Amino acid sequence: MSAPAGPGSGAVAAAAGPEATGSAHPQLGSLDVVGVRAAYGRIEVLHGVDLSVPAGSVFALLGPNGAGKSTLLKVISGRVRPTSGTVEIGGIRPRKATPEALARAGVCSIPEGRGIFPNLSVRDNLRMWTYCGGVARSEAEERAFERFPRLAERRRQLAGTLSGGEQQMLAISRALVGSPKLLLLDEISMGLAPLVVVELYDLVAQIAADGVTVVVVEQFVTTALAVASRAAIMVHGRVLREGTPDQMADAALGAYLTGG
Ligand SMILES: Nc1ncnc2c1ncn2[C@@H]1O[C@H](COP(=O)(O)OP(=O)(O)O)[C@@H](O)[C@H]1O
Ligand SMILES: [Mg+2]
Repeated sequence: MSAPAGPGSGAVAAAAGPEATGSAHPQLGSLDVVGVRAAYGRIEVLHGVDLSVPAGSVFALLGPNGAGKSTLLKVISGRVRPTSGTVEIGGIRPRKATPEALARAGVCSIPEGRGIFPNLSVRDNLRMWTYCGGVARSEAEERAFERFPRLAERRRQLAGTLSGGEQQMLAISRALVGSPKLLLLDEISMGLAPLVVVELYDLVAQIAADGVTVVVVEQFVTTALAVASRAAIMVHGRVLREGTPDQMADAALGAYLTGG
């Protein structure tokens, strides 16, 4: 299990402040990706991606392995620098798209593999998260335990000994400590039992209902589409189709079967 991706926590941040350039009517937490290209070395893996996600909604990003979904989330959170194109959060484009600046602008990402500290207790994991945000320790715990009562019961347990679903709850609650505007979740269902996945997605829906914009990358297509209001299918570094969950359900199947 990897160490946390630090800046994902995101301080509460008064928008992106003076660092940012923006359009006239910024919408809290909305996400606009325009013409994003990205490469690892000389190999381009995103070939011009456009996405638009309204504030407070859940957007499901689907597609086969290697399509570039994780790379796109890394571009949005500043971990991969695009070779061209722009990303706007709440109608604002941070002038410096570093992970730190984006975290301050309210972008929080939970990478594949959860990013919790297995050898620290639940409580200490939450504490670690408060170091980068402007949130008091007690408040962080209060918020997390209110949303995830099961974590409260296990506050002294080592995170590595929690069940997979509980670890994922911890990862998500740590993200919420920073009051993000935009939450990026990369395959949170990985390795979890279907019932636990359903439970996690109920929580994702609640988080969005509180006004947080959520982008989920998911292999459990049906579960993700059940909570999403829009979805896109990525194949080979491009958005193949975009639409309502109903429209995407069949299209997703086709894309997975044919590889695009
Ligand atoms: N750190 C990296 N270095 C080089 N190539 C990478 C790296 N990460 C991903 N890739 C490549 O970029 C492409 C897209 O990967 P990724 O974004 O992880 O896809 P997905 O999340 O949809 O499975 C794949 O071909 C993958 O091998
Ligand atoms: Mg991935």
